[in-house]
Amino acid sequence: MKIVCKSADFENDLQDLVNLFYDEEDCPFSIEHTFEKNGSTLSSTFFVGSGDEQKKYEKTFVLRPNLDALLEKSLTKRFFKNHLYEILSTITKKSLPWGSLTGVRPTKFARDLVERGEVKPHLISETLVRDYHVSGEKARLVTQILQNQKCVIKNDKLLDLFINIPICPTRCNYCSFISSELKTVAGRVDEYVSCVLKELEAVKKVIAEKSYIVRNIYIGGGTPTVLSAVQLDRLLSQINYPVSEFTVECGRPDTITAEKLDVLKKHGVTRISINPQTFCEATLKRIGRKCNNKEVFDAYMLAMKYDFVVNMDIIAGLSGERLGIFKRTIGTLLELYPQNITVHTLSLKNASQIRGEEVKFKDDITKMVEYAEKTLMENGYKPYYMYRQKHQVGGLENVGFFRDDNVCVFNIDSMEDTSSVIALGAGAISKRVFNIQNRIERLPNCKFIEDYISRIDEMIDKKIKFFS
Ligand SMILES: C[S@@+](CC[C@H](N)C(=O)[O-])C[C@H]1O[C@@H](n2cnc3c(N)ncnc32)[C@H](O)[C@@H]1O
Ligand code: SF4
Repeated sequence: MKIVCKSADFENDLQDLVNLFYDEEDCPFSIEHTFEKNGSTLSSTFFVGSGDEQKKYEKTFVLRPNLDALLEKSLTKRFFKNHLYEILSTITKKSLPWGSLTGVRPTKFARDLVERGEVKPHLISETLVRDYHVSGEKARLVTQILQNQKCVIKNDKLLDLFINIPICPTRCNYCSFISSELKTVAGRVDEYVSCVLKELEAVKKVIAEKSYIVRNIYIGGGTPTVLSAVQLDRLLSQINYPVSEFTVECGRPDTITAEKLDVLKKHGVTRISINPQTFCEATLKRIGRKCNNKEVFDAYMLAMKYDFVVNMDIIAGLSGERLGIFKRTIGTLLELYPQNITVHTLSLKNASQIRGEEVKFKDDITKMVEYAEKTLMENGYKPYYMYRQKHQVGGLENVGFFRDDNVCVFNIDSMEDTSSVIALGAGAISKRVFNIQNRIERLPNCKFIEDYISRIDEMIDKKIKFFS
């Protein structure tokens, strides 16, 4: 059932909330929303019911005086969402882990509340619980993450460099990232690398002319180590900024060789990822991820010789997995003890092969995320960044953990919008953060490799203007 709203401005957000309560299945009754604004007083009314039996729910809220238009709209939206949350929570007798927070990154939301002076830092947790119905556990997670992000510096001259290699050895069925299988683009990979190098050469000039300082580099994908050692060497030999954090997201263990790690080490890479996703091989087969545990263990042993900081990604909610299997994956991760672990919750986005599939064992997935967060923290890991996506099972989150001092500042910058990013390659989105004006602009490259190659000069021109 689609919600009917007086203003289209609020429809999507209110619908997202309904979908979370009803697990994206059809809501059994109609919901209509209307409101009045009288001076600074907002009155919100929801009509909920079926046929002639409609129940009316009313609530009023007083806006602070002298708000700018953008903030007034955002506070109005928050109030309507809270109102709807309270109604649906009463009707269904359910509460959601993130309360009425949808469409926002919880840590950025909390950070903004503090920066706008709406909330004192020590009251973040209390405010999220009281005003947004966030669970105590999730509110504490936000507070912990903000504490672990103290390393972040905001300065409009600092920026991160991102390069996208949207190519993979094969496609995993849960994945919604735009990435081509190697066999479909094999003949164009060298050309693709040449275009990225052309973009790089152009942005190097802007970086020098405008006195930007590159502080983190991240090569992501897809699977960057799908490139051969020679191609990686060609690309990396042109990146020579003296950064303290340089990540290459290897990801798939079946693409990692000593020859490629030699190249990464030679060019100053400090951090890589080797992603199991799960340590259950039956699941790996079900999700079409064509690699196995031995490949993960071998790649990890190899990486340890190079002293890289290693991140491992896992996903809670992979097809057919119950809590017991997931617990074993966490156990194996702890035995390996990588410096970073990222726990994702399955997201059923339209771009994946499993879109629209029914998710079994939803209750297990909530317990998996709870178990992972608790167990990792008990074993010396701390949470340092977080994000939520649409269509994530149970409205849950993705959280990055670190041990010792090994945070990945690029990940924080990406999620908290604390730094500009010059992004190269197909599908890469550049971002300019104007900290003082509290404003962000974005510039996307073409999504697909073929278009990117054919329109490279146009993208370079736009990028130079964007960062000038
Ligand atoms: C951009 S992908 C690249 C990783 C790399 N190619 C690999 O497969 O190891 C980054 C991570 O997103 C996560 N991911 C991808 N699709 C997902 C989905 N549908 N739901 C939740 N997490 C997902 C996976 O954990 C994956 O490692
Ligand atoms: S999960 Fe990684 S390897 Fe699998 S399709 Fe997505 S980006 Fe490619």
